[in-house]
Amino acid sequence: MSAHGDAMVEIDHLGKHFGSEAAVQDFSLAVAAGEFVTLLGPSGCGKTTTLRCIAGLERPDAGDIRIDGKTVTSVKRAINRNPEHRNIGMVFQSYALWPHMTVFDNVAYGLRVRRAPGSVVRERTMRALELVGLPDMAGRYATKLSGGQRQRVALARAIVYEPKVVLFDEPLSNLDAKLREQMRIELVRLQKEVGITSIYVTHDQSEALIMSDRVVVMNKGVIQQIGDPHSIYARPVNAFVAAAKDTAKLKSRSGISRRCASPSPAATVFRRGRCSCSACGPKTSWFMPASRTAPMQAICLKEK
Ligand SMILES: Nc1ncnc2c1ncn2[C@@H]1O[C@H](COP(=O)(O)OP(=O)(O)OP(=O)(O)O)[C@@H](O)[C@H]1O
Ligand SMILES: [Mg+2]
Repeated sequence: MSAHGDAMVEIDHLGKHFGSEAAVQDFSLAVAAGEFVTLLGPSGCGKTTTLRCIAGLERPDAGDIRIDGKTVTSVKRAINRNPEHRNIGMVFQSYALWPHMTVFDNVAYGLRVRRAPGSVVRERTMRALELVGLPDMAGRYATKLSGGQRQRVALARAIVYEPKVVLFDEPLSNLDAKLREQMRIELVRLQKEVGITSIYVTHDQSEALIMSDRVVVMNKGVIQQIGDPHSIYARPVNAFVAAAKDTAKLKSRSGISRRCASPSPAATVFRRGRCSCSACGPKTSWFMPASRTAPMQAICLKEK
């Protein structure tokens, strides 16, 4: 019986050193099925290392990892399952599509190496392309796509074999600001539509606050705070998290974020979206309910 109930990904006391340097220390987190959790922290704080341990690409030196109730890593019990046995999709910053393949073949690749029958390959690949809004681009070469389209192909490729968990390592950082904002919306929509459990890495506070059900703030390999976006923003537990919050506040002076006193009624229905109250303006703001139980409190983040 799991200590974390029905969590999809359970990480207990994970640790990883590179030589004498601790990249990740005593990291424990339970991610529920369908949840979107973001690891937020500055460069070098251990975000990628944590993801790579979950994916099986890095061998930790302490801790346990369970996915869907099955132990995939246990240092004490000498278990370390290969990445292909973890049923995890991954989207990285450099989404490296095969340039000599069409969009269809890029997405179908993961199914073909798993020896899926031709009819399944065709059906699932087209469904994944429809989900990311690119069914008409199936025959186009990956080199003939825009940045946002390539990013969507990378997403389709990560979800095509219907993994239970998708790991995202700064997948939007190569995109320009406008496209990044658009892709954030699409990614969250897709994530909720498909119901994929997601662990997302970013060092961008606004991105973490906008997209996540919960945020894990990290510094120097150590978790500083885990909470929903509102509690991270409103109740930082220490100076480091407060500094992250202050950065968001600082941005608010230049028009990026503000507390919204009167979020639109839609805020009670949707967890994320545009705030249409008169103070925020209809075009550029987001509302973000504080929690599932107090949906009328919101933080609006305005991107330039
Ligand atoms: N293969 C490696 N060999 C040695 N040290 C490593 C290796 N990979 C990561 N590190 C070190 O571990 C620490 C954590 O690195 P990691 O890549 O996890 O950080 P990060 O939070 O993802 O940073 P960024 O935001 O810059 O991507 C860093 O100090 C880094 O130098
Ligand atoms: Mg990284």
